[in-house]
Amino acid sequence: MTKGTETSSKGGLEGVVAAKTRLSAVKGSVGELVYCGYNIDELAGKVSYEEVVHLLHHDHLPNQAQLDELRSVLVGFREIPRGVIDLIQSLPNTTAPMNAIRTAVSALGCFDAMAEDDSMYAQRRKALRLIAQIPIVTAYFHLARQGKPLPPSDPNLGEAANFMSLINGEQPSEETVKTMDMCYVLHADHGMNASTFSSRVTIATLSDMYSAICSAIGTLKGPLHGGANEGVIRMLQEIGSIEAVDGFIADCLAQKKKIMGIGHRVYKVLDPRAPHLKRMAQKLSTELGEPKWIKMSDRIAGIMLKEKGLHANVDFYSATVYYSLGIPIDLFTPIFAIARTAGWTAHVLEQLSDNRLIRPQSEYVGASGLQAKPIEER
Ligand SMILES: CC(C)(COP(=O)(O)OP(=O)(O)OC[C@H]1O[C@@H](n2cnc3c(N)ncnc32)[C@H](O)[C@@H]1OP(=O)(O)O)[C@@H](O)C(=O)NCCC(=O)NCCS
Repeated sequence: MTKGTETSSKGGLEGVVAAKTRLSAVKGSVGELVYCGYNIDELAGKVSYEEVVHLLHHDHLPNQAQLDELRSVLVGFREIPRGVIDLIQSLPNTTAPMNAIRTAVSALGCFDAMAEDDSMYAQRRKALRLIAQIPIVTAYFHLARQGKPLPPSDPNLGEAANFMSLINGEQPSEETVKTMDMCYVLHADHGMNASTFSSRVTIATLSDMYSAICSAIGTLKGPLHGGANEGVIRMLQEIGSIEAVDGFIADCLAQKKKIMGIGHRVYKVLDPRAPHLKRMAQKLSTELGEPKWIKMSDRIAGIMLKEKGLHANVDFYSATVYYSLGIPIDLFTPIFAIARTAGWTAHVLEQLSDNRLIRPQSEYVGASGLQAKPIEER
């Protein structure tokens, strides 16, 4: 972090460099995102999510043998301990999915014999275990809350395909898998975002991998971060029609209400992930014969750019993509979590490789010199 006792002018640690990382660069002024040297435009649609996991964990794209090895390790880690399944099945079906996942990840740590092993070998195994298991606990919670049985995973399916197959109970189409895989790639890492920061703060105390990922999940949940994608669809549903967009946005701006999926702390130009997602959203909504959502989104994005100079972010169009694929709205943020586990775990490993406690200061602005009166005199 920057030294001294100054606070960033607007708070929120804006502009503060909290760590050096080789994992990803978010270039806010030019709208670029780089994973380990590769521009996101170079990766999206060209490499799979599993290849990005390897890239983030090993700093290079895998060759075929390395990819096969990674895939087989992930498949091998998919089985969920009985105790965690029992816990998932015992949760009220009204539980918010992000809370269910955070709870399940905490429990996974209790059932992992390596949980407290701090060797780098064990940390890497735990990282891959989480990448493999978070999608399964998410799908299992979704099935359990509907009273459905929890089927085993299909070892022949990759990460995106297996998740879609579990939640829908049927093999997804090739097009759906391609779309979801690209969404995973686009969400895999993003510099020192709030949830990644919280995972690094937690592991920097030399806590454990599961605790760090629980911190990250809790942080991602909020509507100012990963929760925004659910907010986007709920907002589109509330607006209801293209004709109602202008009035709705004008009201929100007058009341200083935030429009979900718009604006970004770092990007001052277009979020480089947005055009990829927008293309997917356009294609899917046209195929579905339901262009209404994308038309409304475009109108909102246009107004926000004109009125406030703010661009759409990653959540704006990913929401329409997931919605068009028939995914329940409250699984949108969990899908973000599934994909971002690649980045979170890579950051935890990076933090551990050169660790120092993360402990900023606060500027005290409270009263001073007060005297504690006896309770009956207060
Ligand atoms: C992402 C976000 C939290 C960044 O926030 P930030 O860097 O702290 O920016 P601020 O909240 O200080 O906003 C700066 C200005 O832009 C406005 N603004 C920012 N995002 C806005 C939005 N989505 N809708 C309306 N106005 C917005 C603020 O009202 C403020 O205006 P003002 O200076 O006239 O008061 C913010 O843009 C936001 O809340 N967006 C909606 C939630 C979202 O999509 N989150 C996902 C991010 S990937």
